[in-house]
Order: sequence, then structure tokens, then C-alpha cells
Amino acid sequence: MISKEERAAELYEVIRACRLCALAETRTHAVPGEGPLDAEVMCIGEAPGLNEDRQGRPFVGAAGQFLTELLAEAGLRRDEVYICNVLKCRPPGNRDPLPGEIAACAEYLDLQIDLVDPLVIVTLGRFSMARWFPQQTISRIHGKPKVVDGRYIVPMYHPAAALHQGALRQVLVEDFRNLRGVIARARRGEFQDAGAPAAVSAAPEPREAPGPGPGTRADGPAASPTAVAAPEQQGRTSDARRPAEARRPDREAPAPEEPRQISFFDQDL
Ligand code: URA
Repeated sequence: MISKEERAAELYEVIRACRLCALAETRTHAVPGEGPLDAEVMCIGEAPGLNEDRQGRPFVGAAGQFLTELLAEAGLRRDEVYICNVLKCRPPGNRDPLPGEIAACAEYLDLQIDLVDPLVIVTLGRFSMARWFPQQTISRIHGKPKVVDGRYIVPMYHPAAALHQGALRQVLVEDFRNLRGVIARARRGEFQDAGAPAAVSAAPEPREAPGPGPGTRADGPAASPTAVAAPEQQGRTSDARRPAEARRPDREAPAPEEPRQISFFDQDL
């Protein structure tokens, strides 16, 4: 059976070669994401910035430094968290992602979530928040966990927002401190909302929501949605630390597996 590592390697290779939208013309490196494939916590940012584009790694600039500090507030080391972005390529000038670009990248993120299958997803900023909370504003729901598809989704301000608006720094610190408790609940198999507003599980059409974002935005290519086929979701059958299916009653139990290949290579990428 194809291993998680092999799936990830294949996915990263596809992302690095992706030409589904015009950001492929301007990027230096695509930035698939990084972190352990059995991470309990996944952080999803917006898009690579200048440093990430140069290095091909997520959150390596000032916002990344602050993210590392915030994770420590939650009792996490950066290297135990899976970190990725809504967009895998840098929008020129760090402008906001365009709807077509988000659509083009959406299935890559779906595949990463399926692969890592985290207990807790932390969205960083409004673009990753909009995937689960399309009608919400970050100022209303930041820090409030919501159970979606058997895991916690926790919307947070983007760390870069605090670099521009000092007052948000303490808000982020508090929210990440509270994340400790959310992770502890998830580890105990307790998945209960703490009064957050309704969420959806389908990927929404992105919306213009007020809130912090790195952008100064202008141009942008149209993109067609990807047709990358999603592999079957893998359950955490081998993870003795976290018998996930037992702890997530609303998730599908893992199917008895046939060996299966990812079908990326059918695609005209
Ligand atoms: N901002 C993001 O949203 N992602 C990164 O990787 C870096 C900065």
C-alpha cells in the first residue's frame, strides 16, 4: 500500500510543477507545506510571501517567527505542526489571493487535510477562515473552536496582522494560549463546540471579508479549478497515540484498503 510519505512526496512534486493558474509564471518556488504527516495540529495560512517564495517553505519570514512563538504559547513546537497555505504560490506584490487562484489550489489543500487528518486545524487569517466560515468576520470568531467533520477548526488572526497592528499581538497570544485547552480536549476525544457560529464543511466561494491580510492587491490571472483526483481518506489505523476513529464518531472508519495510486498523472498539469 502506498505510504503517507509517498503520497506526500507525490503531491509536493505535483504542486511544485503546477501550472493551473498564472501564479506559476511569477513564482520562484511553489510552497507545498511542511511538517509531520501525523501532526495533531495543522496551521493554514494565506499564501507564500517573498521569503517563502525564495525558499520554497511556508512561514519563514517575520510572520513565521511570530507563528513559532505563538505555537509555543499553545505548548507546541513548530516542528510538530503541519504548516501550509491556501495558495501554494506567491501572488505578486503579496496581493490578496483571487477567487480563481483559491479554486485552483483548493484540492491540494483538501489532499493535505485528508493526508494529515489533524485533530485541530488552525486557520490563520481570513482566507483560510473563509473555507469553513464563509459568512463570518475574523473579529467576531477569532479563537473560537468549532467542530467540523470530527475535528476542531480554530480561526485565528493572521500573525502578520499583529506585525502591522500591535494591538492584535496580545489577542493572538491569548487565543493561542487557549488553543492548549482545545488540543487537550481533542486528545481526550472530546469534540464539542464552545458556542462558535455555524460553519460549513464544503469549500466555500471566497468572499471579501473585512479583516487583516497582507495584501496590497491589483492584478491577477483567471484560473480554472483543478481536476486533481482526491485519494481515499486514510484513517489513522496505525497511530496508537491517537485512535482517531474512536475519538471522532462522525468520521468514517477506515475502509479496508486496496493498494491505490494517486491519479495525478492522468491530469494535464
Ligand atoms: N503568510 C502566509 O500566509 N503564509 C506564509 O507562508 C507566509 C506568510
